[in-house]
Amino acid sequence: MRIKAAVLEEFGAPLTIQELELAEPKSGEVLVRLVACGVCHTDLYTASGADPSGYAPTVLGHEGAGVVERIGEGVSSLEEGDHVVTLFSPQCRECIHCESNQTNLCLAIREQQNRGYLPDGTARLSRGGEAIRHFMGTSTFAEYTVMPEIALAKVSPEAPLEGACLFACGLSTGLGAAINTAKVEPGSTCVVFGAGLVGLGAVIGCRLQGAERIICVDLSEERLGLAARHGATETVVGGFDTVERIVELTGGFGADYTFEATGNVAVMRQAVESARMGWGLCTVAGVAGKGETLEIVPRFLITGRRVAGSSFGGVKGRDQVPQLVERWLAGEIDVESFVSHRLTLDEVNRGFELMEAQDGIRSVISF
Ligand code: CU
Ligand code: ZN
Repeated sequence: MRIKAAVLEEFGAPLTIQELELAEPKSGEVLVRLVACGVCHTDLYTASGADPSGYAPTVLGHEGAGVVERIGEGVSSLEEGDHVVTLFSPQCRECIHCESNQTNLCLAIREQQNRGYLPDGTARLSRGGEAIRHFMGTSTFAEYTVMPEIALAKVSPEAPLEGACLFACGLSTGLGAAINTAKVEPGSTCVVFGAGLVGLGAVIGCRLQGAERIICVDLSEERLGLAARHGATETVVGGFDTVERIVELTGGFGADYTFEATGNVAVMRQAVESARMGWGLCTVAGVAGKGETLEIVPRFLITGRRVAGSSFGGVKGRDQVPQLVERWLAGEIDVESFVSHRLTLDEVNRGFELMEAQDGIRSVISF
């Protein structure tokens, strides 16, 4: 079929809207009609050329939600009309990692997915016979996409897809960092560095886990205001003295749990140093640039602090994304407030501009 999609033709250049050919889903694959898709930093990072493992031409986008249009042979967990959230982090339910409750890093299709291909090593997207790769295995800046069944989470049809798409990346990453990775305990004190979608998700996750104090650190008063609305009990404008301020606010010890959601390695270091002596756990959820390193004075570790990290918040997508969406529908998570701008597919580059200007939390493309 012919579809309209936003193609990354050349690094550093704006995406171009083109007509592409999308082949029918093969065995184990599903054709999804996209309804909404968030514009995330990872898309911009790849488009800019900063990611050395990036490739072009490709169709970007990985924060998608839509409706199953057709299923390929052998697909058993989805049927036509199901509402789905796309997963760049799949869940095959069979590999050694899927069987472990300690990680969500499914091993089933990693290699082909990293190279931009579907599990059989080929692409369904093409243009005049030339294959176009599937960015993150999702390629959701498009009217339709073909994805493996194991990379789609079936969610409640009652959830508006414009909000559901945020669970495909940023929001689940933050929620999961607090719920799955840190396993925040009731009554604890938490610090969240960064109040973008991941950080706000972590604030909500800490609140849902029953944290008593949630201190949010960011450079923007406006975002800190939003963090307070979602459950932050205190807010701090970040700076060179942030660690001292956190230590002071926590009776001289630091916090039980800290979360880093900026991707800045200097902030990661602050998050480690703001964790409490004895048992403080720092969870890194932000993605640092390739080649960057995190500096930690070993004394911080010897004295009982720990550092953890997770991808996609440790969320096993097919099992847990539907559960998180249910918590939204039950009123525990306010998702609507994160949709700052609504765009058409043709306006996708505007989504990047708004992100670079730090205007709002998320721009969502509606199809
Ligand atoms: Cu993302
Ligand atoms: Zn797996």
